Amino acid sequence: MIDRATIDRILDAVRIEEVIGDFVTLRKRGTNYLGLCPFHEDKNPSMSVSSTKGIFKCFSCGKAGTAVSFLMEHEHLSYAEALKYLAKKYHIEVVEKEESAEDVAERMRYESLVVVSEYAQKFFQDTLWNTDTGRAIGLSYFRERKFSDDTIRRFGLGYAAGRDHSLSVEAQRAGYKKEYLVDSGLCVERDNGDISDRFYERVMFPIYSLSGRVIAFGGRTLRSDKSVAKYVNSPETEIYNKSRSLYGLFQAKNAISKSDKCILVEGYADVISMHQAGIENVVASSGTSLTVEQIRLIKRFTQNVTIIYDGDEAGIKASIRGIDLVLEEGLNVKVVLLPPEDDPDSFAKAHSKIEILEYIKETEKDFITYKSEILARTSDSDPLSRARVINDIIQSVAVIPDQILRNLYADMTAERFSLKSEDIHSKIIEIRQKRREIKESHQQFEERRAERSHGNGISEMEKEQSGISDYALSFPEKELLYYLMKFGSYVMHFPEDAVYGADAPVEVTVSQYIKSSLDEDGIVFVNPLYKDILEEYYIFSSGLQEEKPAEIQKSVIRYFSTHQNSAVSQAVLDMVCDSHPVRVKEYLNSMVPEEQTLAASVSKAVLNYKLKLTDRMCIDLAKQVAEAQKNGDSGQMPSLVKRLQAFNRVKNRLAREMKRM
Ligand code: CTP
Ligand code: MN
Repeated sequence: MIDRATIDRILDAVRIEEVIGDFVTLRKRGTNYLGLCPFHEDKNPSMSVSSTKGIFKCFSCGKAGTAVSFLMEHEHLSYAEALKYLAKKYHIEVVEKEESAEDVAERMRYESLVVVSEYAQKFFQDTLWNTDTGRAIGLSYFRERKFSDDTIRRFGLGYAAGRDHSLSVEAQRAGYKKEYLVDSGLCVERDNGDISDRFYERVMFPIYSLSGRVIAFGGRTLRSDKSVAKYVNSPETEIYNKSRSLYGLFQAKNAISKSDKCILVEGYADVISMHQAGIENVVASSGTSLTVEQIRLIKRFTQNVTIIYDGDEAGIKASIRGIDLVLEEGLNVKVVLLPPEDDPDSFAKAHSKIEILEYIKETEKDFITYKSEILARTSDSDPLSRARVINDIIQSVAVIPDQILRNLYADMTAERFSLKSEDIHSKIIEIRQKRREIKESHQQFEERRAERSHGNGISEMEKEQSGISDYALSFPEKELLYYLMKFGSYVMHFPEDAVYGADAPVEVTVSQYIKSSLDEDGIVFVNPLYKDILEEYYIFSSGLQEEKPAEIQKSVIRYFSTHQNSAVSQAVLDMVCDSHPVRVKEYLNSMVPEEQTLAASVSKAVLNYKLKLTDRMCIDLAKQVAEAQKNGDSGQMPSLVKRLQAFNRVKNRLAREMKRM
């Protein structure tokens, strides 16, 4: 018996044409594939395979079914065997078990959660169309945004009135259990056991699964004051995994496979307006940064992705990050940049379908062109900046899994920057080699950790904690160095009322702040290279003249990036070029330039580093405790345990502080 979540994962990964394609030669015909039917003597291809619908059908003998039933029939497998076959094909781990009463309960539970979500969707929709409040507030809002009635229906939009007309009250009256209302994320349980609506006074965007069932909601406030969150979204639940769903995919999948292209935008409104304009192959990552799973979902329908994010700073940052992820999954990626004041929503409303298609066709750029234009725009033309741009592009090319394609792009890069093709190729080989090493050392670490946690006392503790290897500590160390390199001489502006504590310094540079934070706890970097860089940084920067911060940082970067020790120069170049995941995420949330948020970001980086270090101390101590226990060494125990407790307290305090920020 395979559990429900695994079955879903398998079925989500399956591309029927790949499965059948292993037994029958298929040719693409329009949106479908055609091949000789293996279930009867077929002279002319009469079996059609639909990628979007996930089914095959033979027009001659009438046999039809899914990838699973194809395998059952063709390979004479049972249902479970077919699933296992598919799991293997798509590298999905299957843990098998007998279906127990518990499993049955789980299956029912899953279904119940979906059913209650579908009830809620109907309820919100009904409120929108058939109540006075719904019509006066929700419907008129959608109409003001120029959503047609058809569009509103097609996306199942609704209105949550909340106190006026409460889901929690109505649903319970209709017989839905409190448990499911809470566990589906629709309602929130209060201390006294009552439940209340999560969504109120918001227009509602239901989120559908690939098969068109309602699994979650996004609710947008109609207020413009900043104290109200613009969106409230369903939490992650047993039926909704944010990083594995894409808004609009259910409505878009046919168009995606028909046009053999998926347009990726950021918001609900973007998807809807593009649809309404007649461009239906559009999905949104819904504000979270794009994930690998989301890209794999797209991959089931097409190999071609076009990113159209907002034309502002945040949109550009997000698109840059998206590019590498898409490339890494072996898809082709293009980017369209909108005029800076536009997002896909406003653009779609202001233009006709033909104009939009025309605009896409004309401005769509391959990632090399896009990156070089964007990066050239944000940096000056000195050789160092130029090197950064080139490096950045090469990093992207290096992630492409297909060798031929990778080489083609490498040649394009060489040509574009008038560089020797061999130089680019060897650089790419170097990058790939380095990545492989990192990955391997990471794997080894994981393996060792798995071995160690077999049956000894600290396994549970270890499992709970992540990021304790030297390697993991290198990340926060690198982050601190990044701030030193780029902003060391900048002043951190702590707000008066600070959440940073009463003892927060009033005016302090990044460099002073980091130094004193590390010194106060006697911390020395763990990574030897970073430790050297840090020391040298303080020596070098103390000898610098008083200048504008930007000038100082320029000298710092120049000094380190031309360092005689190539390990140092490479590391620093990496640091200042890298599109740092933490930073990109922060950019998504704010459009404020990085140097204006240093008080928050640097203190957070310091805190994060200390947290990781303490984590590691705790684990080391726990190991010593376990060791002492094993050896019956009771003399040492009390002091060890005491220290462990102390560190745990520090850790909890840091974690709390971190959360507050
Ligand atoms: N988002 C979110 N929570 C927020 C802000 C945004 O979940 N506080 C997600 C939503 O999925 C949203 C997407 O990020 O659709 C893009 O954000 P934004 O452009 O601000 O939202 P739009 O839906 O485009 O909103 P509108 O055009 O109505 O301002
Ligand atoms: Mn928008």
